[in-house]
Amino acid sequence: MDAEVTFYPSGKSARVRRGTTVLDAARRAGVTIATRCGGKAACYMCKVTVRPSSQLLPIGDEERRKLAGLDEKNIRLACQTRVSGKTEVELPPDPLRAAVAKALARQKEEEELW
Ligand code: FES
Repeated sequence: MDAEVTFYPSGKSARVRRGTTVLDAARRAGVTIATRCGGKAACYMCKVTVRPSSQLLPIGDEERRKLAGLDEKNIRLACQTRVSGKTEVELPPDPLRAAVAKALARQKEEEELW
């Protein structure tokens, strides 16, 4: 075990071996990252943002090609990104929770108009 991966916003973390994917580290930390392709870089559902200070192994050609420049904004595929040391990962908001929060905010705005 020579890498620590922390996931935000939960703050959950896992200690894993160098070379472990972010997706496997998430599973070890008890954090859910949605996937549909089983980690084959085909579904794009596992997109995460890695903080710039994160220690990662170099991005592979296939992941770079599939991300089409998003890697320059620190967006990576969790199933392809391998850690080499301390790594911090931001997870996107859960789509269902985000939709509920948006609906509640809209309802509150409407109530304030009355
Ligand atoms: S799990 Fe499908 S692209 Fe990463």
